[in-house]
Amino acid sequence: MKDLHQQAARWDQWAPHYDEETRNQDPSAAAAVLSDLAGDGAALELGVGAGRVAFPLAEWGTPVFGLDASQKMISRLEEHQKQTPEGRSPVQARVGDMARFDLGTHYPLVYVIASTFFLLTKQEDQVSCFRSAARHLSPQGRFVVEAAVPHTSGMASERQQMIVREMSEEHLKWSAYVHDPVHQIVRAQEVRVGPDGCRLLPNVMRYAYPAELDLMAQLAGLRLDGRTSDWKGSPFTATSTHHVSVYSRQSAENDTSTTIGPSA
Ligand SMILES: C[S@@+](CC[C@H](N)C(=O)[O-])C[C@H]1O[C@@H](n2cnc3c(N)ncnc32)[C@H](O)[C@@H]1O
Repeated sequence: MKDLHQQAARWDQWAPHYDEETRNQDPSAAAAVLSDLAGDGAALELGVGAGRVAFPLAEWGTPVFGLDASQKMISRLEEHQKQTPEGRSPVQARVGDMARFDLGTHYPLVYVIASTFFLLTKQEDQVSCFRSAARHLSPQGRFVVEAAVPHTSGMASERQQMIVREMSEEHLKWSAYVHDPVHQIVRAQEVRVGPDGCRLLPNVMRYAYPAELDLMAQLAGLRLDGRTSDWKGSPFTATSTHHVSVYSRQSAENDTSTTIGPSA
């Protein structure tokens, strides 16, 4: 519970700035793939935030229900929902912990994207998230995890790193990271300095390599159906920086593999 409250407090800080911070990320390819996987059913997004991908997915006709730790992120989502045209599939959300939830519903698609899974900072909570997601899948349902492939080499020597993201005469945007390799934890601060002053956007993540995620899936009775390096279906290789992993139940009846990428 303490972890959840800490994440909620961090993401409450992000809420007024999140849309602006992510404005260069195009959600359309993700929405197209997720809509294919949801079929005619609804989707559950873990850590839905302000609905960056949930709304484009709803535009494809998929109703989305979201869980999020931060009430302020959900308030942003509700503002966006008020502005969507009548007749569009709804996006709804409530405060909840993606580590442990029981919504009493089954979905053809449960997903967690943009490395949001790593915001569970304990391995036991990450395993529990897989188990909760698995319990909410309909028999042919899919659990999709999109995350970065951890890259800690830049932090190897001093276990810390600073990256300048943008710099002009008027503003500076940089990221500071401190790495705890024993617990696979990275603490980050996104620092923004400009004419309006200085802002800190904190973040704490427990990273996991794809192989560890696959083991967590197994513990939850899921198996890997397919993995690509992006939403366009590019192959996952040793140099991939991201992965989109699709899991389904480990049952004989689920013997179809999943193809990610633009529909034919
Ligand atoms: C990086 S944002 C991603 C939001 C959205 N999925 C997107 O792609 O834009 C991460 C979100 O996860 C939420 N979050 C963090 N820990 C959580 C937890 N334990 N349970 C549910 N949501 C959580 C945060 O409040 C935040 O809204």
